[in-house]
Amino acid sequence: MARILTGIQSTGVPHLGNLLGAIIPAINLSKDSDNECLFFIADMHSFTTVRDPRVLKNNTYATAAAWLSFGFDTDRNIFYRQSDITEVCELAWYLNCFTPYPMLANSHSFKDKSDRLASVNAGLFTYPVLMAADILLYDAQIVPVGKDQSQHLEITRDLANAFNYIYKDTFTIPEIDLDKKSMIVTGTDGQKMSKSYNNDINIFLPEKLLKKQIMSIKTDSIPLSDSKNPETCNVFKIYKLIANENQLNQMKSNYINGNYGYGHAKNELLELILTKYKKQRVEFVRLMKNKNLIDEKLKLGSTKARSIAESVLQRVRSNIGY
Ligand code: ADP
Ligand code: TRP
Repeated sequence: MARILTGIQSTGVPHLGNLLGAIIPAINLSKDSDNECLFFIADMHSFTTVRDPRVLKNNTYATAAAWLSFGFDTDRNIFYRQSDITEVCELAWYLNCFTPYPMLANSHSFKDKSDRLASVNAGLFTYPVLMAADILLYDAQIVPVGKDQSQHLEITRDLANAFNYIYKDTFTIPEIDLDKKSMIVTGTDGQKMSKSYNNDINIFLPEKLLKKQIMSIKTDSIPLSDSKNPETCNVFKIYKLIANENQLNQMKSNYINGNYGYGHAKNELLELILTKYKKQRVEFVRLMKNKNLIDEKLKLGSTKARSIAESVLQRVRSNIGY
């Protein structure tokens, strides 16, 4: 049985890129009965930048509702809110006292964020230490992450090894599971889809608003009657990731045969999203209207997570000499 852990920052409603690139693959991993999965909402990491309490709270609900609507089984696995298990802050402190300053100063993600943001706080600087605490607090064995997080995982492994060198057998050293296939979903402007580029498709929106997002996908100006190249078209690039083989072949020939405009393709993409994700869209809205249901699931997860966290933290305290 492998213990798999990963965190998801709650920075808004998860978009199609988050779903196809991270959430659905992680849920698939959790279906293997050989795995025990701990997935949590990293709302303390979100606090490095979010300052509006309602936004912070609502982002957590929207993120949780997305996972739940795609069928994440919270009875068989552990799904929790990072801020519910404050033991992580105690462990982060012990790890802070083990972290060489240059290790954090050289972090790519810190350099990138501190270049972009007007105000840079110490939480942003020690972000990787909290992340290490997230992982080590649960004796995680495997941590699936995207390429952008691999340096944070190296920091976690370095800290755990340095700690174990002095305080023997304290931490389980986690393995990185780098998502090599890492599907990149294109946004409405043709760049990588991201909340920060304002080019995302939110499949949970009411139909009218979803249509507006899909209609805003950038296309070229080849006339309706002409043949078009599906592979270079932003609409087709998105359609391709969710359509089945028949639907795909049909759209391909429509593009090539001509007399098929981008408006037609966009309408088909909209229809496909509405039918393929019909159940999830309904469930997302139901959960967002009944946040107590989300709270119940997260509470159950926190109880399970806390029992692991307490025993690991006890081991750390005792090894340190407290
Ligand atoms: P965003 O860029 O929208 O802020 P995050 O950086 O919070 O997204 O990413 C959360 C997860 O979703 C990560 O695992 C990331 O790899 C995945 N992800 C984000 N955008 C995409 C995309 N366009 N295509 C595929 N996966 C994505
Ligand atoms: N930093 C991760 C991200 O931005 C989220 C995260 C926080 C995480 N703690 C973690 C991921 C622990 C894996 C393990 O995507």
